[in-house]
Amino acid sequence: MKEFGGKNVFLTGGSSGIGLATAKQLAAAGADVVIFARDAGKLAVALEQIESRRVAAAQRFACRPLDVADHAAVTAVMGETVETFGAPDLLINNVGRALPHYFEDVTFEQFDETMRTNLYGAWSATAALVPHMGAGAAIVNVSSMAGFMGVFGLSDYCASKFALVGFSEALRQELRPRGIAVSVLCPPDTDTPGLAHEDLTKPAETKAVSAGAKLMQPDDVARDLIRGIERGTFMIVPGGDGKLAYFMKRHAPGVVDAIMRRGIRKARV
Ligand SMILES: NC(=O)c1ccc[n+]([C@@H]2O[C@H](COP(=O)([O-])OP(=O)(O)OC[C@H]3O[C@@H](n4cnc5c(N)ncnc54)[C@H](OP(=O)(O)O)[C@@H]3O)[C@@H](O)[C@H]2O)c1
Repeated sequence: MKEFGGKNVFLTGGSSGIGLATAKQLAAAGADVVIFARDAGKLAVALEQIESRRVAAAQRFACRPLDVADHAAVTAVMGETVETFGAPDLLINNVGRALPHYFEDVTFEQFDETMRTNLYGAWSATAALVPHMGAGAAIVNVSSMAGFMGVFGLSDYCASKFALVGFSEALRQELRPRGIAVSVLCPPDTDTPGLAHEDLTKPAETKAVSAGAKLMQPDDVARDLIRGIERGTFMIVPGGDGKLAYFMKRHAPGVVDAIMRRGIRKARV
């Protein structure tokens, strides 16, 4: 996808952080944008900010309250949005949350909610919308650096984010013959309300293993995401540190493990 003017974008989790930054940049690029999230008040505030970036009077913007963990609601709301707004040219499955804890402190209920929010949410939205999407369309699933490297204290989050990468790879092969591109975004730590919430429960070891990496800004992640869509990149890893980590994980996994072990040891003395 090289051009966003007049394109229909459906973006889940568009009321905050990386999703909001992306929605604003897509509005500035001329796209029509619908955002989905649970809190109607936050959605309305975000929608105003997104609309303020419009570059053409004909651009349309909307928001829909939705919990992506509720499969039936996703099916109903996405169906209604296609009817009123038209089919999406670009779907960004951005919703995700992390609640860091030692594995023994992760309840089954937390694991279940993480999977339903981070993985099932993307699956349900994709399943509802793919039948309406045609050649030239694109789908981006937002994973994480924790989607290609295991991170201490993030066992349920890593399980959901690794699964998103596998889902995206399989989907990419199936949808390529139909001319629908699939990408996966793997951001490093990014300065968002979501990260601030994560930091509240992070074990010391989790903080230690990510201490050296540069914190990214949501606008920079959004810019890399949009550039990745334009170039048809499958694995979009924003930032120099993220790209280096992705390279090292593939070509020198032992070094990555040693660096992680050193960080964990340091946090324990
Ligand atoms: N920030 C980072 O450091 C970082 C790093 C790597 C990957 N990521 C990934 O990037 C994505 C965005 O992260 P962020 O930090 O920008 O998040 P954020 O600031 O917490 O924003 C999350 C957005 O998702 C919505 N949301 C949360 N749960 C939802 C649900 N069940 N149904 C519908 N909407 C829901 C939130 O609105 P409501 O609460 O009103 O629903 C909000 O709009 C996530 O997938 C995250 O895992 C983030």
